[in-house]
Amino acid sequence: MTDFPAGFLWGTATAAHQVEGGNWNNDWWAWEHTPGTACVEPSGDSVDHLWRYPADLDIMRGLGFGSYRFSLEWSRIEPEPGEFSSAALDHYQRVIDACHERGMQACVTFHHFTTPRWAAASGGWNDPAIVDRFIRYVEVAAERLGPSIDMACTINEPNVVSSLGYLAGQFPPGVAGDLAAYVQANDLLVAAHRAAVPVLRAAGDFPVGVTVSMSDWAAEPGAEDQIPVWRAPHEDTFLDATDGDDFVGVQAYTRMRVGPEGIVGPEPGVEVVDMGYEYWPTAAEASIRRAAEVTGLPVYCTENGIGTTDDPRRIAYLRDSLRGVARTIADGLDVRGYFHWSLLDNFEWAHGYRMQFGLVAVDRETQARTVKPSAAWLAEVMRTGSIDAAG
Ligand code: BGC
Repeated sequence: MTDFPAGFLWGTATAAHQVEGGNWNNDWWAWEHTPGTACVEPSGDSVDHLWRYPADLDIMRGLGFGSYRFSLEWSRIEPEPGEFSSAALDHYQRVIDACHERGMQACVTFHHFTTPRWAAASGGWNDPAIVDRFIRYVEVAAERLGPSIDMACTINEPNVVSSLGYLAGQFPPGVAGDLAAYVQANDLLVAAHRAAVPVLRAAGDFPVGVTVSMSDWAAEPGAEDQIPVWRAPHEDTFLDATDGDDFVGVQAYTRMRVGPEGIVGPEPGVEVVDMGYEYWPTAAEASIRRAAEVTGLPVYCTENGIGTTDDPRRIAYLRDSLRGVARTIADGLDVRGYFHWSLLDNFEWAHGYRMQFGLVAVDRETQARTVKPSAAWLAEVMRTGSIDAAG
């Protein structure tokens, strides 16, 4: 008895700025070097995936992944407004080709949190011109890479770009508590996604969607009416923007709790992971169910994982998480794939390198890779389609 049907797409995900190294021309690099921000360390050379991608893809193939989800670094492709780098596009073409040479699909994300410095300097996601700027870049990149792309995500977690950038002040541009700026960023991110879909569709024959950061939502007793109040701008704004897309990408890690006054932290007694939120492995299941219900679209879990130095805990999280994903499939939901976050321990944004989300450890002095037991565990599930088979 298998838990996952034949043809279920197994993948792993990374993002350019978190793994490539040397991405000095975007707003994140600038943010990492701005005194007083929440960043604990700069991204620097990261895990040198820019140069080491062939060996990293060999590891993925060895583990049995069918797809690699990675992102294009806009600031490499368009280092100055309207000035495009064919060398950067050649690089990403080589990454796609390297996936195909290993029998893997390439799932390409066009924006994963980072924006070129020049676009950030003229207002970033608060300047209506960002939509045309983004589309100009998507057009050029898609025209070049489109014929060989297997699946595309327009924007990664637009709801995190807006909430952490304009409400929490933890992501660039570091604005805290500006509701109007937040709403404007949401509107522009939705517009950018909507405009990117037809451009991508015209560039090749592959499914196109957006990925949304979602959670399992829960209320303290008596605060149930607060869930829609907080969830609607954060999740529904983007789930509602998927009309006509080919899929919705669900990214889920934990639970979000609300009380009478708004968002509250972990429930006393529930384990807290290194990221500071609850260990909540049913987040993926709950989020997949909700995304399917709200959008009516096929679902891919485009990110799920745990930042931990305790690899057996990662296996436990994965096991429970995948059981939840399997339940959605058993219930007849159209869930087509699961991408684990992440292949490598990498730059976890403001938290730096302390958070270990990887199936593969990296020694950042030598850049040596070490495959963790959790990777072998997941490889067995992927090989057999059965969670129990992996032990
Ligand atoms: C993001 C990743 C991040 C991961 C783990 C997601 O919100 O897309 O870039 O590393 O979660 O926190």
